This record gives sequence, C-alpha cells and structure tokens, in this order.
Amino acid sequence: MRICEKYLFCTLIGLFLFSINGFSQNTDASLDQRVEELLAKMTLEEKMGQLNQLPGDIQTGTRVKNDPLAKRIRAGEVGSILSHTNFDNKMKLQKEAVKNSRLGIPLLFGFDVIHGYKTVFPIPLAQAATWDMGLIEKTERIAATEAAADGQHWTFAPMVDIARDPRWGRCMEGSGEDPFLGAAVAAARVKGIQGDDLYATNTIAACVKHFAAYGAAEGGRDYNTVDMSEQTLRNVYLPPYKAAIDAGAATLMNAFNTLNGVPCTMNDKLTTDILRKEWGFKGMIVSDWNSVGETMVHGAAVDEADATAKCLPNCDMDMAGETYMKGMKIALRNGTVTEQQINDAVHRVLRLKFELGLFDDPYRYMNAARKDETLEKAEHREFAREIAAKSMVLLKNDGGILPLKENSTFKRILFIGPYADSREHKDYMSFWTLGIGKDATDYDTSKVVTPAMAAGPALENMGFEVTTKEICINATCTEKDYVTMINSVAESDLVVVCVGERGMECGESRSVSDLKLNRNQNNILNTLGRLGKPYVAVLFNSRPLEMEELFENATAVVCAWQPGYEAGNALMDVMTGKVNPSAKLPMTWPRIQGQIPMYYNHLNTGRPQLKFPTLWTSGYLDIENTPAFPFGYGLSYTKFDYADLRVSKSNMKMGESVEVSVSVKNIGELAGDEVVQLYIRDVKADISRPVKELKGFEKISLNKGEAKTVRFTLTTEDLSYWNHNNEFKADPGRFEVFVGGNSRDVLQGDFNLMK
Ligand code: GLC
Repeated sequence: MRICEKYLFCTLIGLFLFSINGFSQNTDASLDQRVEELLAKMTLEEKMGQLNQLPGDIQTGTRVKNDPLAKRIRAGEVGSILSHTNFDNKMKLQKEAVKNSRLGIPLLFGFDVIHGYKTVFPIPLAQAATWDMGLIEKTERIAATEAAADGQHWTFAPMVDIARDPRWGRCMEGSGEDPFLGAAVAAARVKGIQGDDLYATNTIAACVKHFAAYGAAEGGRDYNTVDMSEQTLRNVYLPPYKAAIDAGAATLMNAFNTLNGVPCTMNDKLTTDILRKEWGFKGMIVSDWNSVGETMVHGAAVDEADATAKCLPNCDMDMAGETYMKGMKIALRNGTVTEQQINDAVHRVLRLKFELGLFDDPYRYMNAARKDETLEKAEHREFAREIAAKSMVLLKNDGGILPLKENSTFKRILFIGPYADSREHKDYMSFWTLGIGKDATDYDTSKVVTPAMAAGPALENMGFEVTTKEICINATCTEKDYVTMINSVAESDLVVVCVGERGMECGESRSVSDLKLNRNQNNILNTLGRLGKPYVAVLFNSRPLEMEELFENATAVVCAWQPGYEAGNALMDVMTGKVNPSAKLPMTWPRIQGQIPMYYNHLNTGRPQLKFPTLWTSGYLDIENTPAFPFGYGLSYTKFDYADLRVSKSNMKMGESVEVSVSVKNIGELAGDEVVQLYIRDVKADISRPVKELKGFEKISLNKGEAKTVRFTLTTEDLSYWNHNNEFKADPGRFEVFVGGNSRDVLQGDFNLMK
C-alpha cells in the first residue's frame, strides 16, 4: 500500500473510532494530550460549565435553588452533580450531557460515601478504633464497589481531619487525634476506594478532605475559626492529608474554615505552596459546599469576581454555590483571572473523567444488572458485623462480668434505654448515610439490627431469659417510664442499659456545647444506680462523652460507637465473647468537658502537674489533669503482659535507625488480639516537643499462654519534626521510647541521637 493510501487508511480508522462516541478511544495517546484536544474545542462558557458542580436529589448544605438540571446540562453549564441517589435519573442526566450538549462531555457524579454506601458500616472513628488497616481498606473497597455499581464516580472521602475536641460533630467522620494513626488510616482508605486502577468499574475517585485543619475549629464549633502555628499545622494536622496524597488520592476538597485568617478555599500558602509545589499534587480540587461563595461571607472577597480570582488558583470546581458561574467572566475581563488558569482547572476536571473511562463509555458505571447483584450483598453485611464488633471498645469490665457465659449465675437479662431498640433518627448510624434513602433522613428502619432484635436469638439459646423495655423514648421520661424501669429491673438479674447519641446528632453541623448524655438519660442511669443491680452500659456514641458517674457505677462499659446496620449482632458477638474485644480509643476520653482540649501528645509545659492537687503547676483546682481513659486504651477479655523492652543501641547516629523490641504474652484464659503501641519523646530538642508521640503500632493475635516479640524500627525521619524555623529535622539528644497497650501504661527505654 502506498504511503498516502496508508495515511488515508489510518485517518479513516481514527475518524471512525472518534465517531463511535465522540472522542478517540482510550488509545496510548497521553490523557493530557486528549484533554488538550478537547479543551481546544471548548468555549469559555463550556469551560466554566465544567467547573460547576450542582446538587442532585439530596442537598447537604445551605439550600440552593434547583433549576431543572437537564436544561442546565444541555446548555453545557454543569460538569458534575453531587448527592444524586436515583440510578435511573442519573442515567437520564448522563444522556442529556452526552447526547444533547454541544460537545457531549460526560458528567461526573460525586457522593458522600463516608461509612458505607447501601451497606452501612461503623462510623469512621469506630473503624479507626480497630487500628486494623486491612479491615478499614476492605470497608472502603466494599463501599466503593457498591457506589460504583450505583453510578457514582467519585466519593468525598476520606475525611482525615485531626480532631482533639469532642464537642465537634465531625469527630465521627475522621480517625481521632493522632497524626500517625490518622495517616495510616488515610492511606488505607484511599487504597480501598481507588483500588489500583481508577478505570475499573468497581473503583471510584477518592477526595481527601477537608484541607486543612478543619477539625481544629475553636470551641469545637463547626466551621469556626482555625488559628495555629505552622509547626503545629505541619506536625499534627497535615500528615494525614499528605499520606492520602502519597497513596494516590485523585482529588482533594478545600475546608470551610479560615486558617490563620485566610479561608482555605483561597489559601495560596496551603494549596499552591504546600499541596501543589511542595507535595506535587496534580489532582483536581473541589470546594466544599459553596465555600467559594463563603469567602465573601468570611469578608475576604468583595464579590463573585473577587472570590473567583482568589479561589481559582486553589480550587478547580465550585460545589453548589455557582460563584464561578457568576464571577469568572468579570474576573477574566478585569485580568484577575487568566485563560491559562481556567484551562488548567478544566484540564484537571476533564483528566479525571478520562481516567475514569467516562469518555470511552459514559454509562460504564450504570449497569443495572451489576447494580442489582452488588448492592447490599450478604457478604457485605457479614463484614459490617465483623468490623462493628472489632471496633467496639471495652472500657470497663469489673469482675469479668463479660463475656456472658452459659454457666453465669444470672439468668434474667433486661435490655433497657432509648437505644435498646430504636428505629429512628438513623440511630446506630449517622447523618452521613445518604445513599440508603430518598433524602438525608429517609431510610428503611428494618435494615438496622438493634440490640433488642439480636439479644433474643443470641442469648436465649445460651439459657438466658431476655426482656426488652423501651423507656424514655421521646426525650421525656414519664412517671410510667420510671415505674416500668424499677419493676423491670426488680425482675432481672443483669441490666444492659443502652445510652448515647442519636444518629442524626453526629456529623456535620452537629457540634454540642454539652457532652453530658442528653434527653434524661442521666436520670435513667441515676435511678438505675440506686436499684442495686449490676448493669452493663452500652454506649452508642459518635465521640467521647462526659459520663463520670456511669464509668463509676456501671459494672461494665462497652463503647459501641455508631456501629451501622449490624449494631445488635455485633454487640452480641462482643457480649457473648464470640469476638474478644481488641479495639483501642483513637481519641482521649476526658473526665469532664471542662478539661477540653485534652489530648495525649501535649507539650510538657514548664510546670507539669505530677500530683493533684499541686499549686503553681499546670492543672485545675477541681479535677486532676488526667482523662477518664487515655488515647490507645481498650480492654480485652484476656490479659497481656509486656516485658523485656529492648533498644538495639544506646547511641544512634544521624541517618541511622534503631530497633525497639518488646515481649508480649497472653497471660489470660482466652485468645485475643492486642494493639502494641510504640511512642517516643524527644526530651532534648530545639523547641518543646510532645511528652509522647505515636510512632508505630502492630496488632497481634495471641492464644492463651502464647508470647511474641514485637519489633519496631525508628528511623531518623521518624525522630524528625517541623521546627519553628520551618525546618524538618531531628535534633541530637536523648529520646525516650515507650511501648504498651495504650499511651499511659507503658514500658520505657531510651537512647541518644548523635550528631
Ligand atoms: C458538606 C461537607 C463535605 C461534603 C460536601 C458534599 O458540607 O462539609 O464534607 O462532602 O458538603 O456533601
């Protein structure tokens, strides 16, 4: 064949492929080149449309007007839709974009898949309490598989904000107070969500959020001001975001808050300097809900054009607020935004759509048969039960009253309290379960297994008699409720009282000023405490709560968190010993809220309070400076003994590493899992450093009588930190090391880091 004929033949083949679905197939041409080809065809209005994200059939923020989406899509004014649950409608909207808009650019569907999609898992804070990255990754794998099967392309997760203040409603959404644990969880979540191939139809794009330091809101009040030193930002709050980016997170979300006076959505230091330049992040950035527009409310932008000019370098896609749609043309005209900036932002949006394969087949995530066979599969629910049981923290167990045994002296067990058998307010779950209903509050209550539903089947065949008494249901306790309780308790041998928070009381915009149990629950407990029967308290909570009396009076306490669909079955697995609890607190649990902020990795101060009370020391007159339960704390039905802590060298050279080992033995009667934790203290540094910092953990399984030597390696990088001169370095001098089953009860060793 002559050259010209060959060229003609190749051109015809290329045109034919192009004609199949408007764009060239997923050939070896670089994605960027294919994006640029498309960009070159786009008008300014179409580019702005790609940066515009509108809400679907659920709204998760201040209400925005909801013009008919189809009309806007046809006009090329929408690049992405978030929070759209209806599968068939998503298909219709995608067809509008592909068939009826000028360039046929497919839509990107985003969704908050926070702790499961159609199968509801424990809240992320509970999952973090497992300290088991494999379990957490698998949770996200299942959630992403379900979401992808239902036509979602992108999840606004993982949320990796460090939280030190339990008053903040969104503690439940993250991994607690520690940067090392938070970073490990962040990476596991991204891997679970994205798998190793974004093009696959069972993986979706992750979105690490909220950048940055959203959890440090003053007073724990959602959306409030954040102000901190750069070394605190870098040493405590940034590591989990960095871990998510290093794990390959495809996108990132700006935070609502200001950081040191500058709203995060327009914070060049955060996004341009640290995220883009220092960390090399090339992915797409989406605002939080109207956070572009809110720069005007913050008083940091005068109008939409100013907001656009300040945000566009730090935020590609405008979620819900349409500020870019209103301000971009003016900003372009007045020169505060350049064509190149717009092209760069659109490039990142389109590239993600190419990576997901949407240009090769815009409907590839919309296979009805795959949806029907994937959503809420039985094995997904079985796994929900497994991780829920493994997330429950045993805080107290006097006399080993748990696990319940067939030869227990008591037979009659009473389940009582507002969360013994609730079917409302998304109890045992959270606000962030948008995929299970038609809107944020709708769901099929029959899908949740409550404690009462599970107790009978689990306990009666062990010979127990189970009674359930729902009392004080609607926030009020009537005289009748108390009579019912007193009579029921009198007729029982063991009481299981289920208290905590409503599912709809945790999550975004659900901060509280008072961490005591609400809705008369303390009255229930006070009455119960006077009836003289042993009781097990089960907490369905989204954060540490103030419950000193309960901790004192209850015989046993299980922190069950918001465990998801399998709440009751998982609780029974723990109470009967089918699962030996191994979870550890990912957040310090204060005695009273007046102690907040209280976190384990605090500085020593110049006057640490070593004994309470001691004047002229950093403490309170009315309470000792210790938590109810420390970070990393959790009991087991067996007992682990730590011995023989060894440090491989007493002098470690800069650039070298040191090994820390410890022997852990199961000296109890049952097999169990233990999270062995390694902490350091930089005793002699250029600036004050925390009294403890988590630098390693390993979850081990030991049979009765079995021992294992656990080894950790500390590198010079592990000993390094960001100092007040913004240098990341390790200071020569003495380091202490600590190993134990929590951050308080530890063996101690030390070594010197030499110049
Ligand atoms: C919300 C949240 C954010 C979420 C987004 C979309 O306001 O802050 O985490 O992903 O809007 O629902």
